[in-house]
Amino acid sequence: MTTRYTIAVLEGDGIGPEIMAAALKVLDACASDTVAFDLRVVPFGGQAYFDTGSVLPAETLDACDAADAILKGPIGLSYEDSQKIPVDAQPERAGLLPLRQRYRTFANFRPVYLPPELVHFSPLKERVVAGGIDIMMIRELVGGLYFGEKEEGIDAQGRRYVKETLEYDDDEIRQVMVVAFDEARKRGKLLHNVHKSNVLKSSVLWNSVCSEVHSEYPDVDLRHIIVDAAATALILNPRQFDVMVMENMFGDILSDLGGGLLGSLGLMPSASVGPEKALYEPSHGSAPDIAGQGIANPYSMIGSVALMLDKSFGMERTAHAIWEAMRQVFAAGYTTPDLGDPEEDLTPISTLAFADRVVEALDGLLAEEKS
Ligand code: IPM
Ligand code: MG
Repeated sequence: MTTRYTIAVLEGDGIGPEIMAAALKVLDACASDTVAFDLRVVPFGGQAYFDTGSVLPAETLDACDAADAILKGPIGLSYEDSQKIPVDAQPERAGLLPLRQRYRTFANFRPVYLPPELVHFSPLKERVVAGGIDIMMIRELVGGLYFGEKEEGIDAQGRRYVKETLEYDDDEIRQVMVVAFDEARKRGKLLHNVHKSNVLKSSVLWNSVCSEVHSEYPDVDLRHIIVDAAATALILNPRQFDVMVMENMFGDILSDLGGGLLGSLGLMPSASVGPEKALYEPSHGSAPDIAGQGIANPYSMIGSVALMLDKSFGMERTAHAIWEAMRQVFAAGYTTPDLGDPEEDLTPISTLAFADRVVEALDGLLAEEKS
């Protein structure tokens, strides 16, 4: 019997279509007699706005509603192109955030991972990253400042003003804490809780809910760290971290710092998980400056496929084989132009050539598993 999964595919803008094409090659290699993937490619992002007048057309929402999982490329336009769209209709505000909200994808997993033999990609000194980097950042994704009430206008003195709200309730905090403690329990049993409770009252509540949930996970070592100090600690000694949990905006910023630790945002996939379904998306933007050249690194999009197979379809071993295949391609000396140290003897390959090599390695690994 064949299990069929339906996937809504949202290619997005800029390098989106290229890295998605690469990722779909890898996904295709994971199909078998027992598992099939039905893809529904639908418009999303800036391009969808120019074609249909909406960054998130009804057809796209229907496909996402009907799908078992959503695979989404990066969205966003160059500064000049985004000026052609009214602020409230732009891809990030009118497309991505509503999509996350619709499926209440509160837990965003952002692996910051570089195996020991690939540490030459990191800009940090060898002695700091020797042994590899392996952090799981968990970002609360549907609350806080990005979703709070907004107000703008002119005050009594005639000055323009804007007000944005940072709001969390204890249920919202608890649900992401449970995910973070579960993840810590599965991994190294160490959780860093990132906060700013010396200034923000939202962090005071965040921390107290964190401690309450901790009482159900006595086997997990919990450490509290202030967000600004966490930024420094990530650079000075990233290997001290295992799982980290943080609110939406802290996670947006620190996860990009994570990409910097690895040497490129192109190495940052993510899974945005909600109660019914999940959205799999690179953590980075659409890089319009290099779009269409076939030089984008598809690791983040292929890694998002691996996360989807693992988290939405229970295909943990296949997911593991994808990570391993990507490691093998890099370890064989290939690189994409965003990566690579000029002192290293690495061979740059295109987006699709990278995918082809991953598929080749993956075929070998999956065949080995069967035999
Ligand atoms: C991310 C991105 C998004 C965010 C943007 C595109 C709205 O930066 O996924 O980190 O801020 O969440
Ligand atoms: Mg971001």
